[in-house]
Amino acid sequence: MKYMPNSEKCPLPYSPFKSCTVPRPIGWLSSISPDGVENLAPYSQWQNLTFDPPMVMFAANQYPDGRRKDTVINAEKTGWFVWNMVTWDLKDAMNTSAMAVPYGESEISLAGLKTVKADLSDVPMVADSPCHFECKYISTHRLKGNSNVGTIDIVFAEVVKIHVKDEFITEEGKIDIMKARPIARMGYHDYTVVDNMFEMKIPKASPDEADGLEGRP
Ligand SMILES: Cc1cc2nc3c(=O)[nH]c(=O)nc-3n(C[C@H](O)[C@H](O)[C@H](O)COP(=O)(O)O)c2cc1C
Repeated sequence: MKYMPNSEKCPLPYSPFKSCTVPRPIGWLSSISPDGVENLAPYSQWQNLTFDPPMVMFAANQYPDGRRKDTVINAEKTGWFVWNMVTWDLKDAMNTSAMAVPYGESEISLAGLKTVKADLSDVPMVADSPCHFECKYISTHRLKGNSNVGTIDIVFAEVVKIHVKDEFITEEGKIDIMKARPIARMGYHDYTVVDNMFEMKIPKASPDEADGLEGRP
């Protein structure tokens, strides 16, 4: 099977595109409107971009009627949002938080989540999440698609504060991912959970290269 998605009809009943780019980490993003309404939504078009300084991005598709996502509007208006790690235990709350509630209503109470305030802004952070990034808005790049939903706002931000709960740090000083069990997005309605891992080192890597991959500052 092969096809050109921009000019040919997909020969499969479901588009393979999102199911090839897997697993995608979930940017579970909290934000606040200028008049104080708290907001939370998952974004799987989410990625780290670089580490010195740490920068991230997410891509928000517009609604079919052309409205932009609340997370984008809040990030642009207040300059802040927070990334919350989604774990297996938080998966149902994450799913509820994806519901499209009118601007001005909060998904946080709907999902029954406890929050704590971020250190650098008034953005709420999901209290039961093991890791958070406080993200400072940099810019938005808009890419026009074939439709309103295909049109995206790509939001770039710098991670200016990282929180990791002490109970999720191993004796070696690494994040205990096996304990946190983050979930990630697959295609269709499918997800996966990180509950196994293996280690690999580049043969004959220079110390700088090895340190960079391992994450030494
Ligand atoms: C796991 C998951 C991943 C999602 N990823 C995206 C995404 O990358 N971009 C997007 O525009 N919407 C995505 N959505 C849908 C948004 O979460 C949904 O439109 C939400 O209502 C947006 O909320 P907001 O307007 O408060 O920002 C995703 C939904 C789920 C459940």
